[in-house]
Amino acid sequence: MDFKLTEEHLMIQKAARDFAQTELLPGVIERDEKQIFPTEHIKKMGELGFLGMMVDPKYGGSGLDTISYVLAMEEISKIDASASVVMSVNNSLVCWGLQTFGTEEQKQKYLTRLATGEIIGAFCLSEPEAGSDATSQKTTAIDKGDHYLLNGTKNWITNGGTADVYLVIAQTDIDKKHRGINALIVEKGMPGFEIGAKEQKLGIRGSDTHSLMFTDVKVPKENRIGEDGFGFKFAMKTLSGGRIGIASQALGIASGAYELAKKYSKERKAFGTEICNHQAIAFKLADMAVQIEAARHLCLKAAWDKDNGHNYDLSGAMAKLHASQTAMDVTVEAVQVHGGNGYVKEYHVERLMRDAKITQIYEGTSEIQKIVISRSILAE
Ligand code: CAA
Repeated sequence: MDFKLTEEHLMIQKAARDFAQTELLPGVIERDEKQIFPTEHIKKMGELGFLGMMVDPKYGGSGLDTISYVLAMEEISKIDASASVVMSVNNSLVCWGLQTFGTEEQKQKYLTRLATGEIIGAFCLSEPEAGSDATSQKTTAIDKGDHYLLNGTKNWITNGGTADVYLVIAQTDIDKKHRGINALIVEKGMPGFEIGAKEQKLGIRGSDTHSLMFTDVKVPKENRIGEDGFGFKFAMKTLSGGRIGIASQALGIASGAYELAKKYSKERKAFGTEICNHQAIAFKLADMAVQIEAARHLCLKAAWDKDNGHNYDLSGAMAKLHASQTAMDVTVEAVQVHGGNGYVKEYHVERLMRDAKITQIYEGTSEIQKIVISRSILAE
């Protein structure tokens, strides 16, 4: 077993770290406060190859492995989790889904532009009444011969307003339950497709979350991904990889908060010495370091499983469950280490604490990860 990262991995990690420090850090507080989408930063991330990291270079991607993706996600998320969720959805849910299950025409038409960041994508599964219970899709895609007629509403869609391409999951044949669901590629501007108001959120406020409304939208048959009825499996398989991305985001939020807390504890004095010299603080840092290291190992193990052709449903769910809990625990403690300053925006940790919470909710709540994990271990 070799825990050493390759030269290439270290280069990618450094490139992501440098980008986050020099480009994302300035302005991150204002973007959070005013809910400003990081348009220019996302464009630059595309130019640097961070938006199609695992896509084959023949479709405009970087052709890298999932380990590289985890490393880059951690570094970007340390500084700006709003930028990293855009990156995560575009890489894991949209590009990976199209590359793995799309037709050659779909790849030429959409993937080539998504992988370079020329356009970005959104993944549309959640509905007002179908969040965790994803098989209960109410959005319908009725087969009309050469096209599907799409009707319904999707909720909490990341990149909802800024995307150009939307992968929409919808029910075609209710009698077939989850085997009657399809995944369709919907383009912004298709008649009958409306974007709802932007959500006002607790965290990841720079990202763009909307509900979407579809009224008699005609989606050509060639925009279906996979065979008729493959949509639910498409969503589940794609989300399994997505969970590695969100686990890495949670890891980055935790390690970002930990690094700030450690630095602060070496500068701030109380009772005649730097606060890191008090065990009350030093032990908090020790607990954070252990939790983060465990989360990092779980993320890299899930990525390694994916890169080596092993099943990663279980390892991805474990990584997400643990890393998101770590993000919550560590950010709360990081605020505590900072004392009163932790409650103030300029110290960054209050934002990281707010950002952490969503990692326990999207791409499957912690309870959903426990369903996936328990079913898997009990089937052994
Ligand atoms: N890969 C392939 N197929 C899978 C699968 C996987 N990982 N998991 C399940 N399936 C298949 C099953 O084999 C089954 O198919 P068959 O009957 O043909 O064998 C089918 O899917 C249904 O599976 P289940 O019976 O296990 O379904 P269930 O109703 O019990 O639900 C669940 C399973 C794990 C709870 C699932 O509903 C789930 O993951 N829910 C959470 C949904 C979610 O993560 N939503 C996030 C929205 S996207 C998002 O957040 C993006 C963003 O904006 C950041």
